[in-house]
Amino acid sequence: MTSKNPEQTNDSQSPDGMSRRTFLDGALWVGGIAVVASVAYPIAKYLVPPEQTEPDPTTVNVGKVEDFAPNTGIIFKMGRKPGLLICTSQKEFRAFYATCTHLDCTVQFRADMGLIWCACHNGRYDLNGINVAGPPPRPLTPLRVNVAEGQVFVSREDA
Ligand code: FES
Repeated sequence: MTSKNPEQTNDSQSPDGMSRRTFLDGALWVGGIAVVASVAYPIAKYLVPPEQTEPDPTTVNVGKVEDFAPNTGIIFKMGRKPGLLICTSQKEFRAFYATCTHLDCTVQFRADMGLIWCACHNGRYDLNGINVAGPPPRPLTPLRVNVAEGQVFVSREDA
């Protein structure tokens, strides 16, 4: 039978009173927290949108009148959202936010159909932005169009 030396236990005490086991437990916790934080932080940064530093513009210059052929449409940036400018076959301009009222896909002008179309679920709007077929529950949000000095300006309705 061997006798155990009191100074050679598995849970030996250091001179300051902290055991090796306590130290290793603490180190594992700190390491574990660091690993979780290094994974969670980038995910949180990705999911939370950055703070907007500038307000959305109320008016956007979309281009020269002569650049738009009849029966065409273009997508442009209206602040952080897409806008849709349509030049009808009568050379009238109409503009809307290009965000579908169903599930927020970007709509487009379809000259071959003579309407505004959402590719996601075949939603359809007429050229006044009224939902006429498919799942969209509401009309598109209209924008105001002004032509001045040969330029096409699009503004928010509340501007
Ligand atoms: S998102 Fe446009 S029809 Fe569904």
